[in-house]
Amino acid sequence: MRVGIDIEFQIQGQWKTDLLIAFALEGESFDDACHFSQGVAPWLTIAPAWRDFKGKKDERTMLYGPPAMDINRAMVLGLGKEKDLELEDIRFSFAKAVKACQDMGLENVGVDTVSMNRIALKLGLKKEEMAKELALAAKLALYTYTPFKKKNEEATKINKIFFLLDDDFCDDELKKAIRFVEAETCGIYLARDLANAPSNAMTPKLFADEAEKVAGYHNFKITILKKEEIEAENMHSYLAVAKGSYEEPHFVVLEYRPHTIEKDVKPIALVGKGITFDTGGICLKPAAGMEEMKGDMSGAAAVLGTFETLGRLGMLGIFPNRPIIGIMPLCENMPSGRSIKPGDVVFAKNGKSVEIINTDAEGRLILADALTYAEEKFDPEYLLDIATLTGACAVALGEGAAGVFCTKSDLAHKIHKRSNELFERTWLLPLWKHLGKELKSNVADVKNCGSRYGGSLTAALFLKEFVSDDRTWVHVDMAAADNADNAINPKGATGFGVRMLTDFSFLN
Ligand code: BES
Ligand code: MN
Ligand code: ZN
Repeated sequence: MRVGIDIEFQIQGQWKTDLLIAFALEGESFDDACHFSQGVAPWLTIAPAWRDFKGKKDERTMLYGPPAMDINRAMVLGLGKEKDLELEDIRFSFAKAVKACQDMGLENVGVDTVSMNRIALKLGLKKEEMAKELALAAKLALYTYTPFKKKNEEATKINKIFFLLDDDFCDDELKKAIRFVEAETCGIYLARDLANAPSNAMTPKLFADEAEKVAGYHNFKITILKKEEIEAENMHSYLAVAKGSYEEPHFVVLEYRPHTIEKDVKPIALVGKGITFDTGGICLKPAAGMEEMKGDMSGAAAVLGTFETLGRLGMLGIFPNRPIIGIMPLCENMPSGRSIKPGDVVFAKNGKSVEIINTDAEGRLILADALTYAEEKFDPEYLLDIATLTGACAVALGEGAAGVFCTKSDLAHKIHKRSNELFERTWLLPLWKHLGKELKSNVADVKNCGSRYGGSLTAALFLKEFVSDDRTWVHVDMAAADNADNAINPKGATGFGVRMLTDFSFLN
């Protein structure tokens, strides 16, 4: 398991770091920005760089003091005008700063929490809330995916981030917040690793092996259904997708039942799309960009990442209010002599017949059976699925956002609010009944896709065919949120969903 960068605290009088980071708004002076640091770095007041520093957004200045001092380097991050101040900008500014320190070859950085807290107050945030976001931004920014690179290309040099405190003790809230973020990071790193792995190194079997490791480490119950067992469960919609591939499908079920929860409490079920590679099948995708379809298991990765985070939170004595079930249908979508073909009809687990119009609309076919399985076996209080389901979702919302569909409007709004607070951008989309006619089939109960219009909406309506009417169900289409290339997210998988699903796991 990857540990990454440690986050530690230094109490007043013990500050020692390769570089001190402070924050300044536009037009602020040394006294405003990092007056407190003067105690350990008296040279700061007279450092010449102050003369030209304006504190503009994205401005950054380096200040150097005598090498013999415990703190002899500082970096001040300009945050722009107070009225434009936003936490998201601060996260990115900090991530970029930490990366710059990494490029300089430094081994650690320290945050002047007095300077940090001053900015937090202006945003109406508690110290620990701000610290949490900074720590996460730094950790996510320093993520690298290197298993296939020569060893000496391993980039990470920074191994510690210090929070430099103005007290002679570290308060519990701050400590708790940081430990929480560390648990989140473990899950996000795992999800990124899973999705960044090429499909030949992340087959359904290898993904299931990873799930077994997580289960073993945290003592979760795990069940892995192979082809015969999937057949015995009548999951023919799922099998229809899997059968074109040489790789066998693996259906992974994780169960987390904390000892703190009574037996009859209904669980929360999290279902993640696990297409380890999506060629489109017989309706083959074009070659350009097809390599990105190694990430078509990002939904399953988000679910497994969430379990890793929940396990880590358990070690801290933080438990969800309900048992959490994770369901990951895994397979490849390949063209072959055994593949399903357009026009074929299959019977899904819930008995409905499905006419397969487009073999590239495969995610919904595997999720259909996984949703039925979740309902039949676990009768969950909340049923959520997360999937890289439709390119149309990217067309609708642009890069970096997920579409959220939900059968209950109060829950929908709660998820929308919370996920955006956690910097997992979501937007609510409708489950409009009148579009259901798009899925009418001449030969079967339903067909697997409609017209080009409202592609994400009809995909969601297709899934709804496999969810009971009275079930509280959430569908997250993360097709546009699984990849990024920015300061907090080195090019590649995002690990999107781990924060949101972790938060969702704490519903009552
Ligand atoms: N995995 C894709 C969706 C996708 C596209 C994810 C781009 C990430 C980036 C999904 O299986 C798919 O192919 N969907 C089709 C559906 C269509 C055939 C109805 C799509 O979006 O084109
Ligand atoms: Mn597809
Ligand atoms: Zn797909």
